[in-house]
Amino acid sequence: MGKYLKHPLGQSVAILVAAYLLIKFGIVYLPPLVGLASAPVPSSVVLQYMLTVIVGIFVWVSDNEERWSKFKQPMHRVMVDPERKMARGVLLVATPLLVAFVTFDRVRPSVSAPVSFRSIHPAPPGQIDFQGRTMRLTGLENPLRSRGSLDEHYEVGKRIYYQNCLACHGDGLAGLGYYAQGFNPVPLSFQDVGTIAQLTESVVFWRIAKGGPGLPNEGAPWNSAMPAWEDFLSEDDIWAVIVFLYEQTGHSPRTWGDEGEEGGH
Ligand code: HEC
Repeated sequence: MGKYLKHPLGQSVAILVAAYLLIKFGIVYLPPLVGLASAPVPSSVVLQYMLTVIVGIFVWVSDNEERWSKFKQPMHRVMVDPERKMARGVLLVATPLLVAFVTFDRVRPSVSAPVSFRSIHPAPPGQIDFQGRTMRLTGLENPLRSRGSLDEHYEVGKRIYYQNCLACHGDGLAGLGYYAQGFNPVPLSFQDVGTIAQLTESVVFWRIAKGGPGLPNEGAPWNSAMPAWEDFLSEDDIWAVIVFLYEQTGHSPRTWGDEGEEGGH
């Protein structure tokens, strides 16, 4: 080991390895030890720093004639020395293999899901557990529509919407809230004919109450940011915000009659 470290080639390799470890892991793990902030290092930055280190090493080994020839010697021997035929053969096979592997790894198609907009509605459950009690969704209508004045429910729903939903679903109800761009899948537009216009109010209730965490597995892979509002809103609050969504967009909810005509699946 000591013998190799006295040789300029061994020293260069040692510097290269040490520099790599320092750049790749040192920047991430050392600053926190003294209470400073750190961040993961992107591989393009690692590559840039490593190129700088390599240039530095070349400047150093070539700056002195004796060191330069000592540095080249082992490489030269591997290339021409009859005794190093084995090593030469191994290199001749290994190098193209390495290049081939790296190339393959880069062009290999990835199996991760594409960034996508959700277009299919996952099948809703027949009943849900809402704030500790069982609620049957099948056939369920919005109770507020037959109780009190619709205008009042609309006003309540409007306040709830602006207090809770605005940041994601936007003030035009078009899914363009301030935070919308930060999420994948994106918050849905209620103006779109493909969202609440296609659903019964009970399904919308389920989606608001259970949010992204309540989506069934067959909808996977899912990483929906839609919160589960049953933790924050009462049952009437949710029905009121639903009234607001439909009144404001001018869509009418799908009714249970429509469902029946379709053959009741
Ligand atoms: C943190 C961002 C965020 C907030 C706040 C938010 N949502 Fe959502 N919402 C989403 C995302 C993202 C989706 C699309 C993915 C999904 O369906 O889960 C969504 C989907 C929905 C859907 C499903 C529509 C459909 O056609 O399937 C409804 C209904 C809904 N939101 C209502 C609301 C209501 C009502 C509120 C306020 C009480 C609200 N959301 C607040 C992010 C949010």
